[in-house]
Amino acid sequence: MVFYFTGTGNSLYVAKQLDETRISIPQVIHLEGLTFEEESIGVVCPVYGHEMPGMVKEFLQKARFKTDYFYLVHTYGNIHGGAAELAEQFLASCGKKADYINTVLMVDNFLPAFDMEEQLASEPGKKAEEHIAAIKADIDSRRKYRQPVTEKDRSWHRVFLERSAGASEGQRRSLYRITEECIGCGVCTRVCPAGCIRLENQMAVNTGENCQVCMACIHHCPENAIRLTIPEKNPDARYHNGHIRLTEIVAANDQGITVSAQHTY
Ligand SMILES: Cc1cc2nc3c(=O)[nH]c(=O)nc-3n(C[C@H](O)[C@H](O)[C@H](O)COP(=O)(O)O)c2cc1C
Ligand code: SF4
Ligand code: SF4
Repeated sequence: MVFYFTGTGNSLYVAKQLDETRISIPQVIHLEGLTFEEESIGVVCPVYGHEMPGMVKEFLQKARFKTDYFYLVHTYGNIHGGAAELAEQFLASCGKKADYINTVLMVDNFLPAFDMEEQLASEPGKKAEEHIAAIKADIDSRRKYRQPVTEKDRSWHRVFLERSAGASEGQRRSLYRITEECIGCGVCTRVCPAGCIRLENQMAVNTGENCQVCMACIHHCPENAIRLTIPEKNPDARYHNGHIRLTEIVAANDQGITVSAQHTY
């Protein structure tokens, strides 16, 4: 059994290779009880600022796992910043311990810092397939391991925290701007794991409430009608994992805000 959170498909792609029983965190988090029993239980998600998305943390706080083997796999695109250690610390804060924590380097979907065309060009060099295969072998053999973390990794996270200190909820909410290019297709409303976007008069409206900053809305918009309000490396380039269909992202994230998504990959 593997739980996953994904914006652009990387983490779902990894989850699909690790276990046949896959459960989307944005869907399951609404259920009562959240007690799960299985011989092996895992969580796959991206890192945002070297840490798990807020919704994944909330899920880990609420859920009870009865298992012989619990693992975490993070996808990231550039610098993990000691994500394995940060995850270990977070788990300890909610009374949990993982047998295995590792990371996979994939395409970085963070638009303020990266041009998606360049990211796609550099993808083969990241050797994600090899790393995923090695992680699968580890998990299948129930290996006990936590990715080592260096002082340099920790310093990346300290710098990140210093730089992001002071960013308000208001700034987060206004990170996205929906332009007149919007055709009201509803895709963004259905790929949003937090249900923050709705259609009004055939136009998308982003409330930003509980936004996970996953960037699924902006990457999946077929008209490229969602723009960042801060500078982007390449405003014309967007990304989704080529192995994952839009319908899979919708199935994972749709919070039932609208029913009119027409676009498919
Ligand atoms: C808001 C945000 C913050 C991110 N922070 C980091 C980071 O600190 N380090 C990193 O290497 N990648 C970072 N990334 C890149 C993602 O972790 C990476 O592309 C991940 O594989 C995306 O997974 P998904 O396709 O399942 O959504 C960030 C992406 C976003 C949207
Ligand atoms: S996905 Fe793009 S075009 Fe479709 S409703 Fe959302 S913003 Fe508009
Ligand atoms: S509004 Fe966009 S960035 Fe925020 S949670 Fe929804 S899809 Fe992700």
